Amino acid sequence: MKKICVVLAIAAASSLMAADGAEIFKSKCFSCHGDKASKSALNKSQIIAGWDAAKIVASVTGYKNGEGGPMKGVMKPIASGLSDDDLKAVAATIASYK
Ligand code: HEC
Repeated sequence: MKKICVVLAIAAASSLMAADGAEIFKSKCFSCHGDKASKSALNKSQIIAGWDAAKIVASVTGYKNGEGGPMKGVMKPIASGLSDDDLKAVAATIASYK
């Protein structure tokens, strides 16, 4: 019984996280990165759909710290508006888009 509860708790927690990430993507990333992150943002970014979540976290954290490509000024305020938890959730969502 205890085992079942643990499994259910993990399933509930991970579906909650996926929902959050999808919500964040829709409200904060979709307009430039497109449906399921399948577009090049403003025709400048790489297509980030299916990127490893850790790579997305590292890249967005870089923008927070003023690193990035020629259009990094676009990403900086967006990156700065994400908490660590938001960033993890949205990165997991983008990584799941393949
Ligand atoms: C206003 C348009 C816009 C929005 C909204 C936006 N981005 Fe971006 N994003 C860009 C542009 C432009 C670049 C390329 C920047 C550069 O030159 O480094 C980029 C680059 C990136 C990259 C790195 C890709 C590369 O080419 O190296 C990641 C990862 C990323 N964005 C994630 C996100 C996430 C996650 C969100 C939502 C929280 C988001 N972006 C919202 C425009 C946007």
